Amino acid sequence: MGSSKKLSIAVLGSGKGSNFQSIADAIEAGTLNAEVVCVISDVEDAYILERAKKLGVPAHYISAAPFKTKLAGNAEQKYIETIKEAGTEIIALAGFMRIIKPDLLEAFSGRIINIHPSLLPSFPGLAGWTQALEHGSKVAGCTVHYVDAEMDAGPIIVQEAVPVLDDDTAETLHARIQVKEHVAYPEALQLIATDAIEILGRRVVKK
Ligand code: GAR
Repeated sequence: MGSSKKLSIAVLGSGKGSNFQSIADAIEAGTLNAEVVCVISDVEDAYILERAKKLGVPAHYISAAPFKTKLAGNAEQKYIETIKEAGTEIIALAGFMRIIKPDLLEAFSGRIINIHPSLLPSFPGLAGWTQALEHGSKVAGCTVHYVDAEMDAGPIIVQEAVPVLDDDTAETLHARIQVKEHVAYPEALQLIATDAIEILGRRVVKK
């Protein structure tokens, strides 16, 4: 992962893929020294797969059945094979709504990152923006972090904050957070691509 070689990224997502798009846009703009080597979704008609096809990135639908919230058994092995075959260095979870189990974690130990729509450790789990609104937080945001065995708990690489406004709905707050996500995710990936950070205990610091 030197500063001249492109970082090979596999993006996993279950939804519309705006974070994948921001990564692709940053690569195109030259601010992220990387290549997306594959996009994988557990949702057959997820728009993230359409975006990948439009950009000429190999796009795979891999069912996670029979489970609803996790990857396990055969499905997990198929994910590992596909990700390895693509020549992946880093897995970027971008709205991938499944818990990553030990086999995949071990196959890519220290090389899986996630974007979460809250200022962790506040509001892990589903719809972090709705949790912030319902709690009455005045500040919300997003977190890019390494993935470990605990959900939404690994070392934090980048965080960005946004205000919560009095007239916010879940939709307006999520939209404001997503604007920051689209900056934070390429920024975190570029830190990894340039080998600029290291993990000291729970802290991610510049080398
Ligand atoms: C993003 O807001 C991301 O933070 C969130 O899903 C959205 C995906 O948007 N992820 C989670 O909630 C993970 N627990 P996208 O498909 O447009 O990138």
